[in-house]
Amino acid sequence: MTHLEHLTPRRIVAVFLVLALCVASAAATWALGRSTSDPVGAAPAGRVATADLTPDLASNVAYQQALVAAPSGKPKVTVIGTGGTIAGVATNRGSFTNYRAGQIPIADLVDDLRPEIDAVAEVDTIQFGNKGSGGYTIAEFHALTLAVEKALETSDGVVVTSGTDTMEEFAYWLDLTVQSRKPVVMTGAMRPTAAGTVDGPGVIGADGPANLYNAITLAGSRVTTCFGAVLMLGDEFHAARDVTKTSSYRMDTFQTRELGVLGWIDGTNIKVGRAPARVATCDNPQRWNTPFDLSKIAATDLPRTEIIYGYQQAGGEGITGFADAGVKGIVTAGTGAGGISSAQSAARTAAVAKGVVFLSTTRTGSGSVYGGTTGSVIAGDDLLPQKARLLLMLSLAYAGGDVAKVRTWVSTIGNPEWDTLASSAGTPPGQLKPAA
Ligand code: SIN
Repeated sequence: MTHLEHLTPRRIVAVFLVLALCVASAAATWALGRSTSDPVGAAPAGRVATADLTPDLASNVAYQQALVAAPSGKPKVTVIGTGGTIAGVATNRGSFTNYRAGQIPIADLVDDLRPEIDAVAEVDTIQFGNKGSGGYTIAEFHALTLAVEKALETSDGVVVTSGTDTMEEFAYWLDLTVQSRKPVVMTGAMRPTAAGTVDGPGVIGADGPANLYNAITLAGSRVTTCFGAVLMLGDEFHAARDVTKTSSYRMDTFQTRELGVLGWIDGTNIKVGRAPARVATCDNPQRWNTPFDLSKIAATDLPRTEIIYGYQQAGGEGITGFADAGVKGIVTAGTGAGGISSAQSAARTAAVAKGVVFLSTTRTGSGSVYGGTTGSVIAGDDLLPQKARLLLMLSLAYAGGDVAKVRTWVSTIGNPEWDTLASSAGTPPGQLKPAA
C-alpha cells in the first residue's frame, strides 16, 4: 500500500482543511486584535494559530466575516447549564467518584471564575436544568436546541455544560439541529467541583473550572464559527460528530478515534489543527443548515428510535419488541462491518415489513459500514450507533415517509465527504459531495 492509499475522502477533507485554516487563522488573530509577528518561542497571549494555509477558507467570505466581525468590546457568551459532574458535590475534597451530580447552579460555577473570566467575555447564564446527562429526554433535547438558538440571537457564542456520559449525544444533537452558524461549545468535567455543599471548598484537582473557562474562551473567540457544535474537555476540542467517551473515569476520556482533535487551548492560545467537513459550506447557508429546524416541529413529532446491539447468537426479540411497541427507527450496532445474528436478521426483515427503518452501524467504535443502496436498511458508514440514532430520528421526523430521503441525509449530512471526482476533473478543491 502506498502512502496515498491512506488518503480516504474524509482524511483528504481533514488534510485540506488544515491547509484552509491558516488564512482563517490570520483573520482570527486580527479579529482578536493580536499580533501575528511575534518571534518564535513562547506563543503570545491570546494567539489563535493553525497549522497551515487554507485556500478554501481564505475565500470563504462567511467564515472570514464572522471572524472579523468581532464587537469592539468583549464577546458576549451565554453559558447554559444542564448539570452533570461539573455541577457535582463530592462527599469530601479527595472524593473523585463519590458525589452527587447536578447540584451547583451554573451562575455559581461562572461566578467562581470571576474576576478573570470578565476579561475574556461578557458572560451570562441560563439554568436549563441540573441533573445527570442520562436523565434528559428527547423532548428536553428539543427544548435545549430552541434555548441555544434564542441565546445566539444576542450572544456571540454559547457554551452548554452537561454530564460527560451522554455529552457526545448532546453535542451531536445540537450539531444537527442548531441553525445558527455561531460557535456552540459543550463542556463538563470528570471530577466534581465542590466538596460537602454547593459552596464548599474545591475538590482536589477538579477539572470543571478550567474546562468552563476554556470553553468560554473558545466560544468567544469565534474560531469555531461554522464548525457546528464542538466538545471541549481537557484543553482539547473535538467535532461533535466524531468524538466519543472512551473511559468511565479517565480525565482524557474524550477521543476522536480516527481523525483526532480539532485543536487545543494552551492558556489563551487557541490552536486549530483541522475543521469538520461542514465548515466548507460556511458560505452557503442553505447547504450548511440541516433540514432539522426544530422551530418547525413539536417534540412529539420526533419518532421513537432505538439501538440494538449485535453479539454471538443474539436473539431477535429485542427488534420484534421494539417494532411491536411502535418504534419507527432502529440502529443496529453490529459486529465488525455491521453484522447481526440470524435471529436478528429474521426479526429485522419482519420489522421492515411493518415499516421500521434500520440504520446499520458497527459496535467496534470506529470504521465504516457500507452497502444496502435501496430499501429500508441503510448503511450508517462510520457514524457511531448513538450518533446514528439521533440522525435517524431527525431524518424520519422530516422525511415524511420518504426512505430515500432518509438514506440521502445519512450519506450527506451524516457522512459528509470531499468531492474527489470534482477535484480530479480540474474543479477547484474545497467542495463537499453535493447534497441530493
Ligand atoms: C453525567 O453524565 O451526568 C455524570 C457523569 C459526568 O458528568 O461525568
